[in-house]
This record gives sequence, C-alpha cells and structure tokens, in this order.
Amino acid sequence: MDSWPHQGCESVRDGRNRGAVLPTPRPSGAPARNPFSVVSLSPAVLALGIEGTAHTIGVGIVDEQCRVRANVYDMVRPEKGGIHPREAANHHAELAAPMIRKALDTAGISADDLDVVTFSQGPGLGPCLRTVATAARALALSLDVPLVGVNHCVSHLEIGRGLFPECRDPVLLYVSGGNTQVIAYARGRYRVFGETLDIGLGNMLDKFGREVGLPFPGGPRLEKLALEGKELLPLPYSVKGMDVAFSGMLTAALALHRRGERLEDIAFSIQEVAFAMLTEVTERAMAHVGKDEVLLGGGVARNQRLQAMVGRMAEDRGARMFVPPGELCIDNGAMIAWTGLLMHRSGVRMALEDTLVDQRFRTDQVEVTWR
Ligand code: ATP
Ligand code: FE2
Repeated sequence: MDSWPHQGCESVRDGRNRGAVLPTPRPSGAPARNPFSVVSLSPAVLALGIEGTAHTIGVGIVDEQCRVRANVYDMVRPEKGGIHPREAANHHAELAAPMIRKALDTAGISADDLDVVTFSQGPGLGPCLRTVATAARALALSLDVPLVGVNHCVSHLEIGRGLFPECRDPVLLYVSGGNTQVIAYARGRYRVFGETLDIGLGNMLDKFGREVGLPFPGGPRLEKLALEGKELLPLPYSVKGMDVAFSGMLTAALALHRRGERLEDIAFSIQEVAFAMLTEVTERAMAHVGKDEVLLGGGVARNQRLQAMVGRMAEDRGARMFVPPGELCIDNGAMIAWTGLLMHRSGVRMALEDTLVDQRFRTDQVEVTWR
C-alpha cells in the first residue's frame, strides 16, 4: 500500500466517465432495456465480482436481492516491509482461478449460472488491477456474459445500502489502509466531502505497528493494546477544513515510543485522537448535506472504538449508524459483484476497451445510474 501513487480516489481530474449508459427511459425501479444491446435482455440475477485493488484478492457471488451467496478472499502478508505491487499481483494471478472455483462451490452453482462478471477497475495498484481485470475478462469471454468494471470506493458504499434496506442515503465513512474518505451522494454522483491529505489511517496504523515490532496488519493489534491504555498522550489533531492528515501523528507516536511511553497508552492515544478527527468531519458532512444515516466501510471500520465514537455522534444527532459485517467491510468480491449488478441492471454496458483499469479512478467519476 505504501507505493500507491495517491491514497485517495480523487487525484486525477480528467472527468472521464465509466461505461456506456443506455439512454432508454425507464420507469423507476425497473431494469433498463437496451434494444440495441447484443447481450442478454434478462435482468441479472447472479453476479460474480473479483476484487483485487491491493493486498487482497476476493471473489464474491451476489444475487439481485443482495444476498451474498459466496465471499472468499485471501490476503498477501509480506514477512517484512510493505506490500510490493508486483508480488501482490503474482499472488492474485496464482489465486484467481482457484478462488473463482471456490466461490462457485460455496454458492453451489456452476459458472454457467452467472449472468454478469464484475471486477474492481480502480483505484489501486496497477499490477494488481491489471491481473484481476485480465482474469475477469477471460471469465466473461469464456462464459459469454457481460463484463462490468466497478469503482472500488463506490462499492464500499453500495454494499452497505444493499445489506441494510433501511439505509437509503448514508454518508459513508470509508477508512481502510489506502483510503480515508467521507463520501455522500449528491446530484447524480458520489462525492468526496473530506479525505486524508496524506496517508490512509490504516496505513498509518500498520506503519506504526511495523516500526514498533507488531505483525502486519497493525490496526487490530493496536486495538487490543488500546484496551489496556490509560493515559491520553499528546498527539497532533490534524483537521483542515473537511480533510484530515495522519503523517504528523505517525511521527509523533514514534517519538513517544522512543521516549519510552507504554505501547498501550500510545495505541489508546492514537485511536482516541484519530477517531475523534474522523468523527468530527463525518458529523460536519452529515450536517452539511442534511443526511441522517452514517455507514462505515473499510478495514478500520471493524474497530469497536471507532464504531462507538461514530455511533455516539449519530445518536446525539438523532441519526442512525450502519456497520456491515467485518468480511464485507474489508476489501471483498461481494461488494464488487453487488455494485456491478446494480450497474448492469441500470443499463451500463462496457465494451472491452471500457474495461481498462485506472489506478486513480475517482469516486465522482462514476455516473450513478442505478439510484
Ligand atoms: P483499500 O484498498 O480500500 O485502501 P485496504 O487494502 O487497506 O483497503 P482493507 O481490508 O479495507 O484493505 O483494510 C485493511 C486495513 O484495516 C489495515 O490497515 C488494517 O490495519 C486495518 N484494520 C483491520 N482491522 C482493524 C481494526 N480492528 N482496527 C483498526 N484497523 C483495522
Ligand atoms: Fe477498500
């Protein structure tokens, strides 16, 4: 993750949109039909999604009611140092076919039952994205079914909406290794209202963990240590407008460690300060866009203390918080399958040349045709 060109989804402003959206008018809720489409006109009922933006390759199978029929994944765990993109890509290449088979077996279906194949088109590490896109293209071509490329960040939000029917229009606090963003729907697109100006919070936790000798990933280890923490040590609280920054906190936390402060207290302090920053910008986004639902996503969203702080903020505002189960918070194929299914059902069709990967695929590049 260290070698991501940019930690957010918002680094290139070329404004290009993904996929062709069919112009056919449709009654609300009904799937769009394309009279010129060469692909099947039946609505998608089973989608397979392949996720592989970074360290995890995941394959999920989801039906049209967002029932997760399979969600299998495997993560590269470097013995030391950060993730090497080429090594992660080799890992994904080795595991793509067996994981697809495993997902089909778990779902109890054959590949011929699939209506659409979807994959994570970006943002992420180039070699990983290309590997997964190649696997998805090969599968779609061999089955002769449509192929849909999906924005990874958008899929973290859509899986929450799919899982919780009462969560209709949330602000998403998306906190993972590479990404830290506050996202909400406005005027036909998902917009990033705030994000990290330097590193993703998960990367910061993992880097700190690595420096102090904890195994990867550091986030969950620090959560355990923090439970034993008592003293709130001084760390920089960096909120700039709607954005946050974590590299100063990393430097300061490492200095505290060198000074001999207890690791439990440092872990506790990192969590209290970092999560307070995120809670503040999430609340501000909710107030700004007038939304009363907050959804958590990304690996760091598994953290109980973060959930407690955001949950308390939501309660105080009379809002509701939704947290997907852990395996759907982290990078996973099911969220890609579900978002691709929504896109396909709304009429998005991609020719092979539309399925090129984009390392810097921005959240607001996606025209939201399905809501
Ligand atoms: P993305 O590609 O979206 O940036 P990612 O590749 O980092 O995501 P995720 O699986 O979403 O992958 O998140 C992994 C991150 O979540 C790691 O940085 C890990 O330390 C962190 N994490 C996982 N569990 C916890 C936890 N309980 N507390 C804090 N951090 C956690
Ligand atoms: Fe992610």
